[in-house]
Amino acid sequence: MFYVSTPIYYVNDAPHLGHAYTTVAGDVLTRWHRQRGEQVWYLTGTDEHGQKIMRTAEANGVTPQEWSDKLVEEAWKPLWQHLEIANDDFIRTTEKRHTERVQEFVQDLYDKGEIYKGGYEGPYCVGCEEFKTPGDLLEGDLCPIHKRPVEWLREDNYFFKLSEYGERLLEFYEANPDFIQPASARNEVLQFVRTGLQDLSISRSTFDWGIPIPWDDKHVIYVWVDALLNYATAVGYGSDPERFERIWPADVHLVGKDILRFHAVIWPAMLMANGLPLPGKVFANGWLMVGGEKMSKSNLTGISPQQLTEHFGVDAYRYYFLRAIPFGQDGSFSWEDFSARYTSELANDFGNLASRVAAMIGKYFDGELPASAEREEAVAGALAETVAKADRAIGDELDFAGGLGAIFDFVKLVNGYLSEQEPWKVAKDTSEEGRARLATILYTAAESLRAVAVLLNPVMPGTAEKLWASLGAEEHLGALAEQRVAEAGQWGRLPAGARVVKGEILFPRLES
Ligand code: ME8
Ligand code: MG
Repeated sequence: MFYVSTPIYYVNDAPHLGHAYTTVAGDVLTRWHRQRGEQVWYLTGTDEHGQKIMRTAEANGVTPQEWSDKLVEEAWKPLWQHLEIANDDFIRTTEKRHTERVQEFVQDLYDKGEIYKGGYEGPYCVGCEEFKTPGDLLEGDLCPIHKRPVEWLREDNYFFKLSEYGERLLEFYEANPDFIQPASARNEVLQFVRTGLQDLSISRSTFDWGIPIPWDDKHVIYVWVDALLNYATAVGYGSDPERFERIWPADVHLVGKDILRFHAVIWPAMLMANGLPLPGKVFANGWLMVGGEKMSKSNLTGISPQQLTEHFGVDAYRYYFLRAIPFGQDGSFSWEDFSARYTSELANDFGNLASRVAAMIGKYFDGELPASAEREEAVAGALAETVAKADRAIGDELDFAGGLGAIFDFVKLVNGYLSEQEPWKVAKDTSEEGRARLATILYTAAESLRAVAVLLNPVMPGTAEKLWASLGAEEHLGALAEQRVAEAGQWGRLPAGARVVKGEILFPRLES
């Protein structure tokens, strides 16, 4: 089972572009693997405990549960639906299937002697829900991520013996060089672990919005320990051993680089302590930036995902961020860049190609795909290479920009082929050879589009479906979702006789 997770997001506010970035990336990755014919499990959800949510609810005069219910139903789930996120499950940390299993997990660590009681004091950022070390802070007391003052906390807490896992973690990273990606993230974690780990405070006792520590209900479990366990509880840990066996462990935990250490250090140590198999990979995406800072709830561009989809459409939205920013690096959003790529790549290169080809097959062959008199080796060869490249880049390396680049280079190549062949001139030659040549050119273009529809289906499912319909492919090849990546590069799959129709414009001109 190919199991991919997103972070579970805090419900203190509605989702913004940054949350959608990670979730769309995971959706493209999992749709790609489904298109390979693999069994896939895609998990997302919400993180609902802790001080941050509690304070937000208080400020709004409702209980934290009421607040979470409202945000989940009115903001989070609707956005994922709108963006066509095909998640297989949605876990909320206030669900019983989660809270009970978290208690069991923590009790188990306690029984194994991995947890002890101690006192702690230090600077805490409620935005991060994390103790900081004085060396992390900016100007003495500012959180480096939220740029807001930290709070000084002094509490009796329970501690997990994280400090004892440094060596084992380093051995694990060594033996699994792909565990943390990209390389910059791996280096950061190696350096952090090499300087020595401190034990981790895993309970809080000054507020109660959390899961009670089973043996001491004056404490609630630290929200990060609670949250990380969602990846296990959601797939049946402790409740459905068969299901758990089938899905566990995750192949890829997608996270932003802000929460890398939790996933690459604390999480594997918790699993080691409990004796569970470790995940395959933690991939940290870079930050969408605004004015040189990480885009966050407090410094939003003022632009919501919905505003962008209203202007550009859902598919272009799903495409743009993955195409424009190398995955793993930081990047900025701009209307100008989005509009430029929409117009040149989506509307002109791709959309026009699709409508021109359908129009010419309509005009010269009454909409019936002609048989190709010969095979255009250059185009067929380029297609096979494109499929191999895109499959490796998107499916294995999470290099979405590289994979999409390869697919759009192929689109350009087909455009170049048509400009060179000039089918509109060949059409004037009504001799038998002229007709055969015209048939070859238009077949070549349509067959190329057949493959492009398959390759773009994980990224732009609505558009790919329209193209599939316009090529009349379903009748001969079956549903688009059933087309396999491995076969997409085989030349000649779309049979002569397919009914090609000029469908609606794939990417209409933008309103200014
Ligand atoms: O940290 N650029 O939740 P969160 C790119 N509940 N990605 C961004 C981003 C940006 N500007 N802003 C947010 C939490 N993200 C915890 C997670 S997991 C067990 C618990 C994305 O609501 C990115 O994936 O603060 C980041 O890690 C995540 O949203 C943080 O969401
Ligand atoms: Mg955050």
